[in-house]
Formats: sequence, C-alpha cells, structure tokens
Amino acid sequence: MEKQAGLSPQNQKFTRSAARNKFKPYVVFILVLTMLCYLQFWQPSCRTARAQAPLKTYRDGNFTWTDCGSGLTCSTFEVPVDWHNSDSPRFKLALIRLKATKKVSKGALFVNPGGPGGSGVDFIKRAGDVVSKMVDGHYDIIGFDPRGVGDSNTIRCFEDGIESKKFMANRPQALGYGDNVANFAAVQEAFASQCIRKNKDFLPYVSTASVARDLDALREAFGEDVTNYIGFSYGTFIGAVYVNMFPDRVGRFMVDGCLDPSLYSGENLKLVASSLIHTDDGIDAMGSACEAAGPEKCALARKSNNSLSGDSYVASTIRKFVNNLIEKPLLATNQPVISVVTELDVSGFLFSSTYKAALWPRFAEAIDEAIRTGRGDAIVDASMQRDTDLCPLVEPYLAAQSPIMCLDGHHDEHQNLTSWMQGVDEAINVSSTAGRIMGTSMMRCLYWNVKASERYTGPWNRTTKNKVLIVGATGDPVTPVENAARLEELMEGNGVFHKHYGWGHCSLGQPSQCTLQVIKKYFVDGELPPKGSNCPFEYNPFDPPVAFSEGEVSYDDIARAAYAIKPF
Ligand SMILES: *[C@@H]1O[C@H](CO)[C@@H](O)[C@H](O)[C@H]1NC(C)=O
Ligand SMILES: *[C@@H]1O[C@H](CO)[C@@H](O)[C@H](O)[C@H]1NC(C)=O
Ligand SMILES: *[C@@H]1O[C@H](CO)[C@@H](O)[C@H](O)[C@H]1NC(C)=O
Ligand SMILES: *[C@@H]1O[C@H](CO)[C@@H](O)[C@H](O)[C@H]1NC(C)=O
Ligand SMILES: *[C@@H]1O[C@H](CO)[C@@H](O)[C@H](O)[C@H]1NC(C)=O
Repeated sequence: MEKQAGLSPQNQKFTRSAARNKFKPYVVFILVLTMLCYLQFWQPSCRTARAQAPLKTYRDGNFTWTDCGSGLTCSTFEVPVDWHNSDSPRFKLALIRLKATKKVSKGALFVNPGGPGGSGVDFIKRAGDVVSKMVDGHYDIIGFDPRGVGDSNTIRCFEDGIESKKFMANRPQALGYGDNVANFAAVQEAFASQCIRKNKDFLPYVSTASVARDLDALREAFGEDVTNYIGFSYGTFIGAVYVNMFPDRVGRFMVDGCLDPSLYSGENLKLVASSLIHTDDGIDAMGSACEAAGPEKCALARKSNNSLSGDSYVASTIRKFVNNLIEKPLLATNQPVISVVTELDVSGFLFSSTYKAALWPRFAEAIDEAIRTGRGDAIVDASMQRDTDLCPLVEPYLAAQSPIMCLDGHHDEHQNLTSWMQGVDEAINVSSTAGRIMGTSMMRCLYWNVKASERYTGPWNRTTKNKVLIVGATGDPVTPVENAARLEELMEGNGVFHKHYGWGHCSLGQPSQCTLQVIKKYFVDGELPPKGSNCPFEYNPFDPPVAFSEGEVSYDDIARAAYAIKPF
C-alpha cells in the first residue's frame, strides 16, 4: 500500500449540501463505452427527482432515514476523506435501504453494481427488490454510492450541464476506425486536465482501498460483526480488496462477474486485452442461437438458410454489416434531427448487446431492418438516446470512472501515445469489436497524473472468516470466466468458484434457475456449493422461458437487474 501526504482540514468543499446539487446526477450506463448511444438503458433519474413532499424521516440506530419512495428509505453516512488523517474533512456517502421482507432480518446486505462509477443507490432503486427476492427476503438490502460516485460527493468535472455539453458535443468517447489519433488524444488530455483542475484536492482519495475502508465503517455503523455483500463486475474488485483488508469481517460474501484483482490493479491495457477474450465469442454465439431459434424468433435468421445444416451465417452477416459502415455510414432519416450511424456506433451497440442475452432479439431486429432498408433508423431507435435536456448534467458516471480506474491501476508500460496505441492494437487483436472502443476510451488514464493516497495490490490470499462465493459466467464479454477461476486460485481456499453457463455479463446476463438456487442457498442457509460447482445453460436467448422462476424471482426481474448492472 502507498500512503501520501494528508489534506488540509480547512478545505471544506467536500461535503456539499443537497442544495448545491442543483442537478440530480444523470448516471450514464457505460464505463468504457460512454458514447451517448447507450443511454437508452437509463430512465433519467432527474425525472424522479421531483420533491416528494413532505418527507418523512425517522431515526434508526446510527442513521436518520428518509422515505424515498417504493418502500425504500435513504440516508447518508460521513467518512473521512483521508482515512489516515484524523483531521480530515468528510465525504458524505449516499445510502439506500430496502428492508427484509422476512420478520427476522439476517442483517444488512451491501450491494455494489459495478462501474467503477456505478451508483449503488440507483441500482437498488431499480432492482433492489430483485436482489431481495434472490436472498428470499432475509436481508436488509443496502445500496451505497462509493466515494466520488453518484450522490456521494460526486466528482464533477464541469460546473453544470451546459459546460459539460459544450465540452462533449460531437466528441466521441472512443476512437473510430481510421479517426485521427492526435485529435482524439488531445480531447482525452483536455478531459483529464479539466477534471483534475476541478477536483485535485480529493481525487487521490477515491481509490478502491478507501472504498473498502468506507464499507467496513458502514458495517460497524450498522452494528454488524461481519459484512454481507454482493458485488457485480467492478464491485468484485471492491469485494476482493475488502476481504483481504478485513478478512475477519467477511460474512456472506458473493462476487459475480469477476475482475482478476491482480490484473485490474495492474497495467491498464493488459486489463483491457485480458478482459475481452470472450467478447467476439459472444457474437458467434448470438449468431448460432439466432440460427437455431429460426426466423420467427430472430429476425436475422433466414428461412432458406435455416433449413440448411451446419454453416453459420448470422455472425458473419453482422460482422460484414459493421465493416461496411467503415466505408459507408448510414443515415437515419426518420428522426427529428437526421443523424449518422457509424461503424463505431454499431460496434458499441453490438458490444453492449453482448452484455445481456435479453437484448439479443432487439439487436437482431435492428440490424435486420438496417440491412433491408439501408437506413439507420432502427439502430438509432434501439440504441440511441433521444434528448438529454431533462438531465443536463450527463457527466458524473463518466467522470467518476476514470479517476477510480486510473488510480487503482497504472500504465507503466504504456507511457506515451505511441506506446498506448500499440497496446490498443493488441487489444484489437483480442477483440475486433471491443478492443479499440475499450482501449481508446481508457486513454484518459494516460493523462491522469494523480497518485492514489492508498492502493491495495495484494496479497489476495488472506484467511477469511467465512468463505466467499465466486461466480463466473462462461460467456461473459468483459469479465471472462477465467477471472473467477483465477480469483479462486488466488484466494487459496477462501473462496469457492461456481461456474455459470450463460452468455452476457455476470450470472444475470443469461440467468439460470440452477445458479439462482446456489446463490439463495448460500445467503439463506449458509451453504457453499462444492468445489467444481457448475450450472448448465437453460435456454436459447432468442427463446427465453415464459415461466422462468426460482422462488419468487422471474425472468423479467433478472433482466431488469441485468440492465442496472454496470459494465465493469
Ligand atoms: C452505531 O455505531 C457504533 C460504532 O460506530 C456501533 O458500535 C453500534 O453498534 C451502532 N449502533 C447500532 C444500533 O447499530
Ligand atoms: C445462406 O448462407 C450462405 C452461407 O452459408 C450465404 O452465402 C447466403 O447468402 C445465405 N442466404 C440467405 C438467403 O441469407
Ligand atoms: C514511449 O514509451 C515506450 C514505453 O512505454 C518507450 O519505449 C518509448 O521510448 C517511448 N517513446 C517516446 C517517444 O518517448
Ligand atoms: C496481431 O495478431 C497478428 C496475427 O496473430 C500478429 O501478427 C500481430 O503481431 C498482432 N499484433 C499485435 C499488435 O499484437
Ligand atoms: C499468501 O501468499 C504468499 C505469497 O505467495 C505466501 O507467502 C503466504 O504464505 C500466503 N499466505 C497465506 C495466509 O496462505
């Protein structure tokens, strides 16, 4: 761990009052894919930000809770910006709670949906009931916005939405095929400089090691001896850090959609390349599932070809379509403002569709229509965000992910643009669809000259009080199943890896009743699956089960939770 000089306590700008947060943060879906086209998965949270007067508040233990709709209560919790300085100013973390439905609660279950930059409060608003059903109502589900994220002293790189829009206008978040690298890099440098200028006093303090300390402080404030936790995606890194920093405090603890903590805390571009080893498999799988389902279920399956045996054609149709856009982008003319659909847009749409098997039919339909009409409207309708005027400040999620990722990892082996772009080429070799998108959108780290006050880079094998449930999905496009196996290995007997056969990100990308049962048994009965545990594919994504249910959890529930999970 590294430790840096403390921070002057006079600096009071960290605890901002609610009144200063003029705009509710509009949280953006994508980590690496911050192109506007992904925003469709988000109902603008500003819309729900209208005053719900009069607010009811009550005191419970160490917290004052306020009704925040749908049976949820919200609170805040103060932590020192610098855990190693007793005079430190405070961060105010945003909390949300969904109480156990069983009469006797087994205690708090903390949830992180990933990112970095993902809001736990927002996730619980959208899918807290699903998490609660997954554990049969036995826990109080607690979402928290990690420091720097969401409502927890969000890193704001711009003064307001107007400034933010002015900066972002017409600037893609990833480099398109053949685009000018120097121009793109300059924008990344400008973005990093802008964020650093605005937030330099507290940027060193948002690394995951500090988040783990916050989580332990929350445990204590909730009066719990151990921490029960579910972390998806990047949340698995918070989990890995926590269980190794506080091994005696590990309760029922699940990580799903795992990062390999040694890679995530290492070289940025190695992380990118190692993350994408199954992304392109997902496209092939989408193709074969489409062919198997046939034209009635998947628009890209052709009647004539469906009867032929063997030869796959849908995946190659998709790839050819995307490649053709390099030479000839499409216009979407049935839009209020005519827009252009480029190879970058569709690659991003494709990449994001590999995250959730439930999206495959819609993706196939949009591509099929684009091929038939030669216009991009179906793609725009399915993937693009229309109007962000309701929520003018779009930057928090986007802005919060860079500092955290760039601080947690490093780019020692790629210290200049030429070298960075060589690293991107290696990532493109791993995934032609996502390598350039992810590698170039992370380019900000090259210019992020902030050093973490504290980094946790191992060891990963501390002896934990309870064993961790490690879940990995075989077809995961960004956190490959190999990471989960590796984490089990790194943890040397302190975790058990459950292999989930499914496409999409985390075990929620293509759920199975079998895996949901494993999760429930672990959280409700404390029963770990045996070593080598696995659950098979249960359905074709183009033909999802109508009556899927495990206990009270339905197929639609899981799809809703999957939408709310962050990509990393
Ligand atoms: C309040 O927090 C303290 C420590 O910060 C803890 O010991 C105590 O159990 C908490 N009280 C409740 C009711 O949770
Ligand atoms: C059927 O698949 C073959 C390749 O296997 C392809 O050449 C042909 O164009 C396809 N036909 C239709 C109607 O899509
Ligand atoms: C760029 O960085 C690489 C390694 O990161 C180094 O080998 C190379 O000399 C650097 N090039 C320049 C122009 O500094
Ligand atoms: C990409 O893969 C090709 C073929 O395997 C190889 O020749 C090339 O060196 C690789 N490029 C990079 C940058 O790794
Ligand atoms: C953890 O791994 C390190 C390095 O491999 C080793 O020296 C140490 O003994 C291990 N610790 C435990 C608790 O097994």
